[in-house]
Amino acid sequence: MKALLDACDLSVEQLDDLIDLANDIILDQKRYQDICNHKILATTFFEPSTRTRLSFESAMLSLGGKTLGFPSANVSSSAKGESVVDTIWTVSQYADIIAMRHPYEGAPYAAIERSDVPLINAGDGGHHHPTQTLTDLLTISREKGHLDHLVYGFCGDLKYGRTVHSLLKTLMRYEDVHFIFISPKELQIPDYLKDELHRAGIHYQEVETIESCIASLDVLYMTRIQRERFSDINEYERLKDTYVLDLPKLNLSKKEMIILHPLPRVNEIATEVDDDPKAKYFTQVRNGRYVRMALILTMLGLDHKVKRQTKDVKHHRPVLLEKEKRIEVQYTGICKNSACISYQDERIIKRFTSNENHVIRCYYCEAKVDE
Ligand code: NCD
Repeated sequence: MKALLDACDLSVEQLDDLIDLANDIILDQKRYQDICNHKILATTFFEPSTRTRLSFESAMLSLGGKTLGFPSANVSSSAKGESVVDTIWTVSQYADIIAMRHPYEGAPYAAIERSDVPLINAGDGGHHHPTQTLTDLLTISREKGHLDHLVYGFCGDLKYGRTVHSLLKTLMRYEDVHFIFISPKELQIPDYLKDELHRAGIHYQEVETIESCIASLDVLYMTRIQRERFSDINEYERLKDTYVLDLPKLNLSKKEMIILHPLPRVNEIATEVDDDPKAKYFTQVRNGRYVRMALILTMLGLDHKVKRQTKDVKHHRPVLLEKEKRIEVQYTGICKNSACISYQDERIIKRFTSNENHVIRCYYCEAKVDE
């Protein structure tokens, strides 16, 4: 696999395989401890991170490999004006696989063009975060036994929260899933995701309080209000503490409901909730390491080197939604999304796609451009 840029780059079968492999690693880590001997992972983080970067490094070290990289843009040549494309091109001469995080949407789509090694998107602006989705899927499937037939509640910043976007796009492909979106009007999920839900024939509800829906949820996915993506800081200050999950609210939920959060949290989950058996966000942190081990092995083509202890589980889940088919087209305009890499860096060649309904989108950030 040359790249993982969007969780929808993986079919449901490939997602199941990664979850199975991660479960096998959890059962017997020792069998995997030397499999990436002499391989190097580079973590190139142009934006802050604790869990994603360290879990990638921990994953590679746990597989017997080595790591190098940088934790922020200001310690790389990006601070001298180097383009993300040249930086990743360079790093791909030093490593066998790269995980990159960037503040601008679509940056990994530009970088992959010149990378000589497999590239993993570890978060691009408010766009995608496919490896957090893998972490979330592994956690839900281990805690609930399945990913389909569940009612999912997403709460908080659904506009800018890239973890929500990637997870939602992925879950849409499972059978009999229901979504309830809990957010202030200003932070509702983007229209393109609503379009995808309509396309998949999935009904969803939008509500403004946790109390109004928590009793019907199987999974409550809490998120942080994404301060760094607001252009108006006063707007952030006004919205930042809209939701706080505390014990009185949690007591309204079903006994088997689980709480997830990609972390970091600010105030949105009171610490009194942390010892409740429903709180799974630190289990989720632990799972992030195992699923990234599974991903690195798979992307390096080393997953067949160890005979698995677990039998391959066949899930028989119908794929309801094919990834939208887009073809590249000529278009003379520009992408007007100021958070897009092609808007921010004029050296990036402008590229556009069109789907079966002739909707033209920026190739990098996927924003509609013909409006
Ligand atoms: C998330 C991210 O970076 O998008 N964190 C993570 O990777 N675990 C969520 C967030 O920053 O709020």
